[in-house]
Amino acid sequence: MEPILVTIDKNPAASSKDVLSGYLDRSWAFLAELQQSSEMEFVIGDSQGSYLWNIERTHRLLDCGNAGGVHSLGHRNPELLATLRTAFDRHDAGIWSMPTAESLALQDSLAAMAPSPGLCRCVTTLSSTDSIDLALMFAMRCTGRNKLVAYRHGYHGHGGLAALVTGSDYDGQIEHYSLSRSQTRFFDEYDRAASVTQLLDGDCAALILELMNFETFEPASPAFLQEIAADCRRKGILLIVDETRTGLGRSGLPWLTSHYALSPDIIILGKGLGGGLYPVSVLLTTQPIYDRCLNEGHWGFSSSMAGSPIASLVAAKVIEIIQRPDLTANVKSLETQLTQEFAALCDEFPAVFAPGSVLGAIATIGLRSRSVRDAIQPALFKRGVMCHSVSLIEPAVVKFFPCLTSEASVVTELADALRGFASELGRND
Ligand SMILES: Cc1ncc(COP(=O)(O)O)c(C=O)c1O
Repeated sequence: MEPILVTIDKNPAASSKDVLSGYLDRSWAFLAELQQSSEMEFVIGDSQGSYLWNIERTHRLLDCGNAGGVHSLGHRNPELLATLRTAFDRHDAGIWSMPTAESLALQDSLAAMAPSPGLCRCVTTLSSTDSIDLALMFAMRCTGRNKLVAYRHGYHGHGGLAALVTGSDYDGQIEHYSLSRSQTRFFDEYDRAASVTQLLDGDCAALILELMNFETFEPASPAFLQEIAADCRRKGILLIVDETRTGLGRSGLPWLTSHYALSPDIIILGKGLGGGLYPVSVLLTTQPIYDRCLNEGHWGFSSSMAGSPIASLVAAKVIEIIQRPDLTANVKSLETQLTQEFAALCDEFPAVFAPGSVLGAIATIGLRSRSVRDAIQPALFKRGVMCHSVSLIEPAVVKFFPCLTSEASVVTELADALRGFASELGRND
């Protein structure tokens, strides 16, 4: 049968159904099947602020997942669009081998915001996956070792060395692609230091982790981080903190690292760094590590399109915006409102909801039973709310990552959707 061709910029434009059946026929069928099996079919037409509309504009979704922070400053943020438009008027991707003022300025603004003063050098890449790949290579060069330690249920990317440190059955690709099974040791219990330190030895180049549990969004305890960081120092292992999701004001401070007395050797930023408009990620590290990897020897890292003036300008603007007092205050009030609304929901529906955790705009509410866990994501979707995800390990929680620019009405809308879901469950019991 002839495939139905999907057209853009022509009449009639492609419908959501055309796109989904096109995916089923001749593209990434898995994505379309995932949407269909969960009854969450949605092909994005327009997006603005906290909201998405489907192609037909018959459905609006409140985006409380925003791809893990890609759209943290809101979809199509007008200030970032203006920055990019101006950048496009003057620049292109540049020539990778030629230094630019914009790239140097980006490094200076990152160094000024860094959670510890030693972190003053940056490498710009196209994605966090690339930055993590590079960070792990840096660790191998600096230590002369090649074993890696990571959290079993963490996520750091699906390519290169990042794929080697992404180890869960659900997210990992090690088995799928027959990648090396011997290079990474995974610790299974987040927040229990002994689970990590028993894996750290003289073969180990790096420990990589997020400062919150990837699956449950629970922030690490200070004691856990203190103990594993001290053990890394003792054993000469580099500590790499992945702030791809948690950085850029998400936690109420510029970095989640800033909540702790912690000096990582390398920090990764990405996703929202490009304002959801342009691909850019950075690896931030110390001068000795940077010099050892990039300035000793030739071409320690290069990528034709990475570190362009355009990427540097948009990233520098994001860094400026997330440090503004009005944005910080907005995240604080979202945190307060989310805490209050979720506590009220737990009181109102004790058989459905349990306390979760809220830090800045990283929020969860606990789910009491398996049936609630299975039903909640599509049920919220039907009520016009897209959550981030539901945890695959205990404790069972539904996770939210609203835009940092969200108005108070967004939290009310989210709470109303949760309330509607719980009330309907009660009626059907
Ligand atoms: C914590 C973390 N690290 C790294 C990555 C990889 O980022 P990207 O897909 O932008 O390369 C992700 C993506 O979801 C992530 O959540």
